[in-house]
Amino acid sequence: MQSRRQLLKTITTLSIGGLSQSVFAGSAGNQLTGLTDLLHTTTSPDEVAKDEAFWKKVAAYYQKGTDTINLEQGYWGKMALPVEAEYIRLTKKINQEMSWYARKYWAEDFKQVKHTVAAALGAEVNEIALTRNATESFVNLITQYKGLQKQDAVLWADVDYPSFQRMMQWLADEHSVEGIELSLPASGNKQDYIDAYANIFEKHPNLKLMLLTHTSNQHGLTLPVKEIAALAKSKGIDVICDCAQSWGLVNFQMDDLGVDWAVFNLHKWIGSPVGVGALYMRTGTLDRVSPFPGEAEGNESVQNRVHIATSDFASFLAVPDAIAFHFAIGGENKAERLRYLRSRWVSVANKLPNIEVLGAQDQDCASGMGGFRIKGQTTKEQVSALQQRLENEFAVFTVVRKDLASGCNIRVTPQVFTTPDEIDTFANALIAIDKAL
Ligand SMILES: Cc1ncc(COP(=O)(O)O)c(C=O)c1O
Repeated sequence: MQSRRQLLKTITTLSIGGLSQSVFAGSAGNQLTGLTDLLHTTTSPDEVAKDEAFWKKVAAYYQKGTDTINLEQGYWGKMALPVEAEYIRLTKKINQEMSWYARKYWAEDFKQVKHTVAAALGAEVNEIALTRNATESFVNLITQYKGLQKQDAVLWADVDYPSFQRMMQWLADEHSVEGIELSLPASGNKQDYIDAYANIFEKHPNLKLMLLTHTSNQHGLTLPVKEIAALAKSKGIDVICDCAQSWGLVNFQMDDLGVDWAVFNLHKWIGSPVGVGALYMRTGTLDRVSPFPGEAEGNESVQNRVHIATSDFASFLAVPDAIAFHFAIGGENKAERLRYLRSRWVSVANKLPNIEVLGAQDQDCASGMGGFRIKGQTTKEQVSALQQRLENEFAVFTVVRKDLASGCNIRVTPQVFTTPDEIDTFANALIAIDKAL
């Protein structure tokens, strides 16, 4: 992986150098100059994670909501103020220039944005297509996938994004192949999850395609994708990796995952405006997925696997600023900080007799997102009542997730501007709830 400084330099060069051809001369990248104060060069991410002065500086780049302690930051990502300002400026400019801009400059600028995304992911530009969200990327992959025969099976897991699970079931039905849902352990360590996948691969030698979620939207579990994908590859199973919740929450580049196909959005943890996704297909793997209906044949670039049509121009154009801001904080610094905030409440919760922490039992599988419930209380009604209690009695906002095989849970997601004091307020709420049981 390139160092943070190298990456930031690449991205700054791409964004400033690229879009300056257009009417938006000098737009993307202009915000970067003020960000140098965020760059920490001498300390390790481990140390940065606990450096409150650093995170105070980061927090000053965001406008926080005021009403509650919002620990539901997994829905979509708040734009940093420089990104928000650029997005507003671009929106106005697009509305002013309209087709004159779009007809003359958009195609080149769009290509340049794609270069920036590819550089950030450590991918070749022909391996990246931009989409409007992760769902669009995923739907295109599964509906255009050519590999299924009658005797095959497709696999998904309870930790996968619920609508993607339903789409995998649809795919199985559509092709009259076997659809298999794997129930992963409610909590576990890296080896537990590798073993669970190894066992299901052994049990179903007819598996042909699987969905593998890097970071689960249910409880933040981050699977050892590289190991599981390598095992799948050795069995001839195609893997679609869902990185919608992981990119930016966890720090990685494509080589760290070792998957052929992956779907992303940038509007969660990369902090772009809403409406930007990406599809990754490794060079040499396009022949198993047809071009988008009516698009030109050819396996040179993944771009002909999607057709995004008229989209939010300004959202895409603000992406280089969002990526630059992300790398100014530092991908690993951010991931470590968020894991630190999770472990701050999880270490308390693990000692409480009536609280069950879900997902990662070790740091290898942890992200900043976490999940918990009261032991034995797994129904939607019970967990919703707990969410309401947190909100109404303790002013802590969280969300109920309903799709784990073990039952419902509360998802807890801080952001880079969440303070340790806010996490402690939440942990104290857990202590009070546990004591009252
Ligand atoms: C794990 C996971 N996959 C997929 C998605 C869908 O992302 P999008 O809304 O960008 O399509 C989400 C969104 O919450 C998610 O958390």
